Amino acid sequence: MSKVYGVILAGGIGTRMGNVEKPKQFLDLGGKPVIIHTIEKFVIHPGFDAVLVLVPQAWVSYTRDIVRRQIPLKDKITVLPGGNTRNETIMNSIRYIEEQGDLDDHTIIVTHDSVRPFVTHRILDENIKYAGMYGACDTVVPATDTIVRSDDHDQITEIPDRKIMYQGQTPQSFRAKRLKELYDGLTESEKNILTDACKIMVLKGEHVHLVRGEVYNIKITYPYDLTVAQALLGMKTEEMQKC
Ligand code: CTP
Repeated sequence: MSKVYGVILAGGIGTRMGNVEKPKQFLDLGGKPVIIHTIEKFVIHPGFDAVLVLVPQAWVSYTRDIVRRQIPLKDKITVLPGGNTRNETIMNSIRYIEEQGDLDDHTIIVTHDSVRPFVTHRILDENIKYAGMYGACDTVVPATDTIVRSDDHDQITEIPDRKIMYQGQTPQSFRAKRLKELYDGLTESEKNILTDACKIMVLKGEHVHLVRGEVYNIKITYPYDLTVAQALLGMKTEEMQKC
């Protein structure tokens, strides 16, 4: 039986967060690190055989320590070093899965930003289901603002019809072996352009199914987002639905 791995991407250092004492995934959110909130969502979901957490090399032992102290179901979790880019971090997870002898045509990875702690059980369910059915899926919400395209950053090139525009969130989920094959086939310059894992699939003509995200499944990028996250933490699910 092919395995389903949760893959929590925490290999970044959060430069847009400004001068903070640690990468944003380790900052406090209501009494525990952001990354612990995210890991909890994965470990309580019964659909995952294992959960990989990939962090900068210098933060591996720190992360193992907080996981050991703060997560009850820690046996499912393995902390590994991430890569220089987000895609390289994903590839490190697939390499580990291969080393475990678990990489076959149907092995699924559900990759998720460590700094999106409000992912829901339903979103994880649907990612596992649609990655299994179609080979890849991406979590999105309909665009609320009109999207304005400007090729020269000076004047409008195009205003696409908002009804067919979506904003990408995570998880993004894949048949891991296929994603690795496509990634290995890219040139170095293609790797620099194709920073989004779903984009690799789309450009290679693969079907990527859409999963409905949630507006409150925010990514903590700037200090402002951490303030929003603190407010979301105090809200009940029904209130969040109205966000
Ligand atoms: N990420 C990763 N490996 C990298 C770079 C990013 O796993 N080499 C992860 C981040 O830790 C984060 C997620 O990808 O959870 C989304 O990326 P982003 O918000 O851009 O995080 P950072 O790269 O840390 O932030 P910044 O761009 O501000 O430096």
